[in-house]
Amino acid sequence: MQNVQRIIIVDFGAQYTQLIARRVREANVFCEVVSYLTPLCDIMGKNPVGIILSGGPASVLDADAPRIDPAIFEQNVPVLGICYGMQLSAYTLGGTVERAAQREYGRVPVEFDLSSPLFAGMKPRSIAWMSHTYHVTTAPEGFTSIAHSENCAFCAMADSKRRLYAVQFHPEVTHSEEGQLVLRNFLYNVCGCTGDWTMSAFIDRTVQAIRDQVGPSGKVMLGLSGGVDSSVAAALISRAIGDRLTCVYVDHGFMRKNETESVREVFTHQFPVNLIVVDAGKRFLDKLAGISDPEEKRKRIGGEFVYCFSDEARRLQGVEFLAQGTIYPDVIESGSVKGSAVIKSHHNVGGLPADVRARFTGGLVEPLRMLFKDEVRKVGEELGMPHDMVWRQPFPGPGLAIRIMGEITPEKLETVRESDAILREEIALAGLDRDINQYFTVLTNTRTVGVMGDERTHDFVLAIRAVTTDDFMTVDWARIPYDLLAKISARIVNEVPRVNRVVYDITTKPPATVEWE
Ligand code: XMP
Repeated sequence: MQNVQRIIIVDFGAQYTQLIARRVREANVFCEVVSYLTPLCDIMGKNPVGIILSGGPASVLDADAPRIDPAIFEQNVPVLGICYGMQLSAYTLGGTVERAAQREYGRVPVEFDLSSPLFAGMKPRSIAWMSHTYHVTTAPEGFTSIAHSENCAFCAMADSKRRLYAVQFHPEVTHSEEGQLVLRNFLYNVCGCTGDWTMSAFIDRTVQAIRDQVGPSGKVMLGLSGGVDSSVAAALISRAIGDRLTCVYVDHGFMRKNETESVREVFTHQFPVNLIVVDAGKRFLDKLAGISDPEEKRKRIGGEFVYCFSDEARRLQGVEFLAQGTIYPDVIESGSVKGSAVIKSHHNVGGLPADVRARFTGGLVEPLRMLFKDEVRKVGEELGMPHDMVWRQPFPGPGLAIRIMGEITPEKLETVRESDAILREEIALAGLDRDINQYFTVLTNTRTVGVMGDERTHDFVLAIRAVTTDDFMTVDWARIPYDLLAKISARIVNEVPRVNRVVYDITTKPPATVEWE
């Protein structure tokens, strides 16, 4: 990002580092996360207006603990240390860090010195979230304590002349009652930020950056899945270069009702691109004939998908750039930020075989590479994309195929697709579509006896799955009101063929997963 004020967050391996970054962005300030292994000259080369040192699991007293170049405190750039970042600041600058008699964990009442610019406008006493075993017992020269709790004399310290600050608590978590204000104060009162990070400014800059990268006649290809990230990337690139963008959308036949039509509509009329829809439903069904093992289904779908996509990529002539909807969490988690220790390849890279990727001599176009998911959604809204596309719930690559237990047939696909559409419609009508993070129907492979009119039936059991979660690593089942469940169940058995019984999945993750296969 050019010409935008920037905060650098130095990551010491804390579970909350991404959260710090999101909070800074929420305050309309751009930030980047870098590994603690990044040389100081590289950090300063980014011209930061402030630096945040994150928390981390180590103890500064360990011989092999992560360290920082002491010169970072002498750059005339404000620094805020958080938790481990505070202890590291104290240790590096000549203060004392010791193991506390008692570990401080959870919500702790803290008294704040409101004369410090870091705590301006706060209540003198509020709850802060603590999680530490070590603490600062003597501040380095020039520092004074600006917050304390019953067990901790240095909940925060400052050398305001040098604009160096540190907090023992975690301002980034919502359990810290005034945490966001502490971060805002650091950004606006200490670093002098002006709040120049807005999504409309991002769109203008990015459209220009894409034009600069691709040049006046360059052509780009993008794999469009219909998901939020690839759709917003396509819309941005379309705005920059119009139909010099070719989007390849592989319809494997396992999409939800009207999904393919909506993609076609948006990228034909609203954001005109050169859209190739590969209608591969029959191929995929043939590949999956007789297959009921979940892993085998996934493997075959994944393989066929890459095959269809690569086939189109090979066919395209004169397209030098490959675009991807990579977003910032993918970048952070792929190891390019965390240093050499953590290497985890993310799903956007590596999908295409090396020989196909090598055809794109111009390189990658990744316009969302620096954005978090909520920012991607804001960009989509700002661009005027349809609400359903921007707020689309997560949908697995293999689609409805892993929501049909046992062998997949066109009839079963129709059953799960129609029931899913009813569920979605009713959840939206009830105004619960933002509260429930993911919801869908699953066609079990079990048939039960029922009675419809005077007829005995022997039809399938259909399950409803609906979950609430922050991260999809752990989920709770959504407490959908009984009356709404009753309405959904009645509609499904009345309107959807081959179903005579509806059940509700009331299992958390763990031990269950979100998807059934
Ligand atoms: P599980 O079932 O593992 O799902 O609890 C967690 C989240 O991941 C989604 N999911 C997938 N997404 N490809 C994807 O892109 C997949 O193969 C896949 N499997 C599960 C799932 O829908 C949920 O949001």
